[in-house]
Amino acid sequence: MEQLETTLAAIAGADTIEAVEALRVAALGKQGWVSALLKSLGGMSPEERTSTGPRIHAAREAVTAALTERRSALENAALDARLAAETADLSLPAPAAPRGTVHPVSQVMDELAEIFADMGFAVATGPEIEDDWHNFTALNMPETHPARAMHDTFYFPDQDAQGRSMLLRTHTSPVQIRSMLSQGAPLRVIAPGRVYRSDSDATHTPMFHQIEGLVIDKGIHLGHLKWTLETFLKAFFERDDIVLRLRPSYFPFTEPSVEVDVGYTLVNGKRVVGGGGDVPGGGWMEVLGSGMVNRKVIEFGGLDPDEWQGFAFGTGVDRLAMLKYGMDDLRAFFDGDVRWLGHYGFGALDVPTLSGGVGVRA
Ligand code: PHE
Repeated sequence: MEQLETTLAAIAGADTIEAVEALRVAALGKQGWVSALLKSLGGMSPEERTSTGPRIHAAREAVTAALTERRSALENAALDARLAAETADLSLPAPAAPRGTVHPVSQVMDELAEIFADMGFAVATGPEIEDDWHNFTALNMPETHPARAMHDTFYFPDQDAQGRSMLLRTHTSPVQIRSMLSQGAPLRVIAPGRVYRSDSDATHTPMFHQIEGLVIDKGIHLGHLKWTLETFLKAFFERDDIVLRLRPSYFPFTEPSVEVDVGYTLVNGKRVVGGGGDVPGGGWMEVLGSGMVNRKVIEFGGLDPDEWQGFAFGTGVDRLAMLKYGMDDLRAFFDGDVRWLGHYGFGALDVPTLSGGVGVRA
């Protein structure tokens, strides 16, 4: 069978996968010579078949084995070539100027999570595309409530499949409702995230970040709120001389409501958090909205307000970052300018920890 010799020689000499495939088709394909021989077996006399059959089958096996061997040899060679071409030298030094930084907003959110985790708070989340009920109604702002008008809400033009009016959440407070409904009481959560209001100037952007805090338990009172905020602000600004002033205020979802001011001192004409307050050269600035959770809100959260009480607070994460790290234009936070990020951003190793310091740069 000289065709066998030629085919085996051709397979051994094939130098591409495609060439091997062409040889397979020529021998074993429908019109291939091996297939033709196999077909011819049918027309043979039994004696002929007994003598020729084994030779034909042996030829088929020899060709198949040669094809498999050649194909895998070529595949291995191709893999070796790729491995040689794509090596990464792991012993090379790190680039002299690593690019990319952690945004101050991300850094501050990590700092807040760290501080509150130490006080037993878990991190909760909710959707940024929120329904009217969670954002307003369940927070004691029925449809006619004037406070709704103060939120400069972005509404969606259409209702969702269930007929609900949808909007971009105007604050993180709807996560209070979601947390109560999904986790029940007692509860200790913070909810950091993006919020949206139709507003834009040097201190307002249409998207900004808030962090919400919610504690629900038995016998909770204003003293717990004050201690928690004081402990948080001392840890965040890393100063023991934090002074707070609690002012009566109004939020539909808290009763009583308290606005929290923190004392500042002027340093080179800039307000620096710490000390200050009602002393010469000092002053107050508002940092938080808070209060005892309104009974109606506890009910909307599926809990019995005679059994469970709580406090809640909310504040702007961007503003906290500006106060702590000294930026003065909020809009720059969202410009994506690498020079700004290079200046104000954090390194990947600046992970805030309570033991190492929540604001220390490595
Ligand atoms: N949701 C309020 C705001 O956006 C802040 C707040 C939260 C006030 C929780 C009281 C309690 O201004």
